[in-house]
Amino acid sequence: MSSALLSSGGAFNDALTARQGQTPIDMAELRRYRQGSGAPAATLESVTRQARRLTLHWSDGRTGQFPMMWLRDHCACDQCRHPLTRERLYKLLDDPLWERFDGDDALASFEFDANALTLTWQDGHVSRFDAGWLYQRCPGQELATLLPTPTPWPTHFTPSHVSHADFVDGSDGRSRWANALLRDGLVMLDQGPCELEEVSRIAESIGPMRSTNFGGRFDVRSVPNPNNAAYTAIGLELHTDLPNWRQPPDIQLLYCLENDAEGGESSFADGFAAAETLRAENPEAFRVLSETPIDFRFQDDGHDIAVREPVIDLDGEGRPREIRFNNWIRDTLSLPSDQIEAWYDAYRALWQILRRPEGRVELTLEPGQMVAFDNRRVLHGRNAFDPNTGKRHLQGTYLDLDMLQSHLRVLSR
Ligand code: OGA
Ligand code: ZN
Ligand code: ZN
Repeated sequence: MSSALLSSGGAFNDALTARQGQTPIDMAELRRYRQGSGAPAATLESVTRQARRLTLHWSDGRTGQFPMMWLRDHCACDQCRHPLTRERLYKLLDDPLWERFDGDDALASFEFDANALTLTWQDGHVSRFDAGWLYQRCPGQELATLLPTPTPWPTHFTPSHVSHADFVDGSDGRSRWANALLRDGLVMLDQGPCELEEVSRIAESIGPMRSTNFGGRFDVRSVPNPNNAAYTAIGLELHTDLPNWRQPPDIQLLYCLENDAEGGESSFADGFAAAETLRAENPEAFRVLSETPIDFRFQDDGHDIAVREPVIDLDGEGRPREIRFNNWIRDTLSLPSDQIEAWYDAYRALWQILRRPEGRVELTLEPGQMVAFDNRRVLHGRNAFDPNTGKRHLQGTYLDLDMLQSHLRVLSR
C-alpha cells in the first residue's frame, strides 16, 4: 500500500521506522505500534512453530502464542484490509484453508527478522506482520486503552481547571481537559469568550451534539411557561439529566454566559463514590437501589418519555455503571406495597450521602466558564436564584462518551 494513502498515524509509524532503518510494515493501523513513545521498544528474537500456533519471543523477554487462525484473520495486506478504510475484507467463513488451521498444515513457511514476521500460507497468500504490532496485540496481554481510569473523588475533591486559551490553541490543554473529564467525571474550562454558541463550537470540535427532546443545544434560564424545572428560577437538587431515557446523555457541557442574579450557585457530587459509600454503610439500601427498577418519566404537550431502570445500575462485576437520580422526573413509584417503604428508606439513605458537604463540589460559574461532566456518573444541581436581582443564562449541550474517548485516542497518536 502506498503510504501517501495514509493519514498522520500511519505516516508517523512509517517515519519512525525509516529513521531507525527498519523496513516499515503497514498494518492498516493509525495507533502507534512501532518503537517510540507509547509503543513497544522490543524487537523479535525468535519464532518457533508448534501444532496450530507460532510462539514469538521478544528482546524484553515477552513470549506470545499466536494461533494460526488468528494470524490469518489479522493479515493486513490490501486484499485482507481495505487500503483506504483499513477495515477487514478477509472473511474466515469463505477461506478454503480454514479446516487446515486445526490440521496444522495451513502454513507453508515463515521467516522473521527483528522487526517483521512473514508467513506464506499453503494457498500462496503472504501475510506480513510488524513485530511491534504483534507485540502490542500479543494474546493474553491487555492492549493499553490510552484512556484514564475513572477514579472516585476523595473527600473535599477539587476539580481540574484548563484555560479556554489552552484548550483551543492546539497545545496539551485539550488532552488535559479530556483526561480530567474521563478520570474525575468533571472538569472546568476557564476564561472563555462570553459568546452565544461558544458551547456548540466546543462540543462540535469533539463530536456531534447529542440531541434530546430539549434540542441539540439548550438555554438554561428562567422563562415563562417552562416545561422543565431547569427553565425556572427554583433550586435544582443534585440530579442526573434525562434518566427517563433508555440511554441518558453521557457528557454534559454547561457554558455560563451571565450569572449575576442572587443565588444560582452550582453543586456537583460523584455518584459512583456516593454509591460505594452507601454499599459500605448500608448494604441493604445499596442492594435495594441496585436491584429495583423504578419508573422515570418526562411529559409535556408533545412528549411522554419513560423508562423503568434502577437508581444504581451495576456492571457485570458489580461496579456502579450508571446513576439515575432526578427527584422531579421520578414517576409514580410502582412497586408491590411490601417493597415501598424499603425502597424509600434506601433512596433517602443515598440522598443523605449526596448531601454531605465533604463529598460535594460547590462553585459559582463565572461568565465565560464552562463545566463539563459525566452525566451518568456525576450529579449536578444549583441553588435557587432571584431573577429580579440580575440575569442568569447558561447554554448547554451533550456529547456521546464515544466521541470524547475517540478525541483523546486521536490526540495521543
Ligand atoms: C439543567 C441544570 C443547572 C444550572 O439544565 O439540567 O441542571 O445550573 N442546570 O442551572
Ligand atoms: Zn492478506
Ligand atoms: Zn440538569
